[in-house]
Amino acid sequence: MDPKAVKSNLVLILDFGSQYTHLITRRIRSLSIFSLCISGTSPLSSITSLNPKVVILSGGPHSVHSADSPSFADGFVEWAQSNGVFVLGICYGLQLIVQRLGGEVKVGEKQEYGRMEIEVEKSCGIYGGKKVGDRQVVWMSHGDEAARLPNGFEVVARSQQGAVAAVEDNERRFYGLQYHPEVTHSPEGMETLRYFLFDVCGVNAGWKMEDVMEEEIKVINKTVAPDDHVICALSGGVDSTVAATLVHKAIGDRLHCCFVDNGLLRYKERERVMETFERDLHLPVTCVDATDQFLSKLKGVVDPEMKRKIIGKEFISIFDAFAQELEHKIGKKPAFLVQGTLYPDVIESCPPPGTGRTHSHTIKSHHNVGGLPKDMKLKLIEPLKLLFKDEVRQLGRILRVPEPFLKRHPFPGPGLAVRVLGDVTEGNALDILRQVDEIFIQSIKDAGIYDSIWQAFAVFLPVKSVGVQGDQRTHSHVVALRAVTSQDGMTADWYYFEHKFLDDVARKICNSVRGVNRVVQDITSKPPSTIEWE
Ligand code: XMP
Repeated sequence: MDPKAVKSNLVLILDFGSQYTHLITRRIRSLSIFSLCISGTSPLSSITSLNPKVVILSGGPHSVHSADSPSFADGFVEWAQSNGVFVLGICYGLQLIVQRLGGEVKVGEKQEYGRMEIEVEKSCGIYGGKKVGDRQVVWMSHGDEAARLPNGFEVVARSQQGAVAAVEDNERRFYGLQYHPEVTHSPEGMETLRYFLFDVCGVNAGWKMEDVMEEEIKVINKTVAPDDHVICALSGGVDSTVAATLVHKAIGDRLHCCFVDNGLLRYKERERVMETFERDLHLPVTCVDATDQFLSKLKGVVDPEMKRKIIGKEFISIFDAFAQELEHKIGKKPAFLVQGTLYPDVIESCPPPGTGRTHSHTIKSHHNVGGLPKDMKLKLIEPLKLLFKDEVRQLGRILRVPEPFLKRHPFPGPGLAVRVLGDVTEGNALDILRQVDEIFIQSIKDAGIYDSIWQAFAVFLPVKSVGVQGDQRTHSHVVALRAVTSQDGMTADWYYFEHKFLDDVARKICNSVRGVNRVVQDITSKPPSTIEWE
């Protein structure tokens, strides 16, 4: 589908703060329909300039009765009506529609949270072939309910407690669901969304990752002048790799990448990622060996925040030197910098009002070791900024980034420095950790469970304990193993290994890594712990 047609089938989500808003966007994209999400209180011009075919008002934690409850811009209803735009309100979104169009929302007599049965009361487009009296289980989460509908609206489904569950005003093209069709706890929710978008609204699907790629390449070529040069810091992670590969496809060797070996990388990491960059992806990469520079600055440092700061600062100075050297070589300053920013970062940086969420940058900043030298005056290219992580992987697949690379667990910017507790330069802590980590990760891969784990790694503890190895008393180090499941790293649970697996790994580690005589497992979730130890 050509980009114009994709854009004219846009489904725009107005975010009123529901924890499921991203999910709505992703679910709709999984139907090959282009979908974007903006703040629910965006000015009307931000909505009209995107020219959506459908607008979905998300749920949210508010009550329409509170004084500061967020709402869509004045003129939205009139604009939607006169432009033939379809509007669907979900949960709070439904209540907003009811209230703003002249109906009444009340505090429900019985609040409805969790699994609930609803019954179709009128045959209608959003329930496709379903008949009056058909029932389905849905996920409810509301205190308020629609008590009186605006003129022209009809109830099409009710909950078993009699509350309004779905409404429509076919004439004005306004629809509402009191429950969350986007969550898997509403088993038929996806079908409802499908009926709504395709049958009721007549949206044409045709949003494909191949088209996204072509479109991005065009944008990059329009942005970067033919004699401009672009730089990119590769971390060895999925996002920067896919972003660089895409930019390289667009502008070829006017892209210059830099990969820094800070001495805090995993076992053979440098060789492995450089091989992927060069052999598989043909990226122009300079590998800077800065091990001594980093480790000398980290000598004696035990405070984790200090470690992060030092690493961040050194990284910037190296990247700065890389850019200057490049300028020397090509005779002009590089003009752009590629960053692998993803859509959740974009959405999170402008959270909807009243959610209590402010900029999440405070959480992210310490994760963002590769921050920019401000005085470099580089313009940004962020080719992934409209994509979710799984979409980036999909794009990576099209760009022929090797599959195991796309599925790599995340790795923190400060590397092993946050996995060696205490001074990283003491004894051979880094070396021990590399060997232990390699055995652990390889065993996980051999057991076929790598993809079920979100992140796994080993931690070096700065304590020694007594052991006995071959008739000899030893006084050696303790290492901890950590593996977690998670959606996004914000919360996490520890992974349940089989005892036999743990037994084998511990044995392998003690038998082959000198200096370790004890292996323990971290069995805490986040919260109260974090994923990394430092
Ligand atoms: P925590 O330990 O904060 O980790 O629960 C959440 C996720 O973020 C990664 N992480 C970092 N990534 N720089 C990074 O680039 C950092 O300083 C950093 N600290 C933690 C961590 O590996 C996990 O994926």
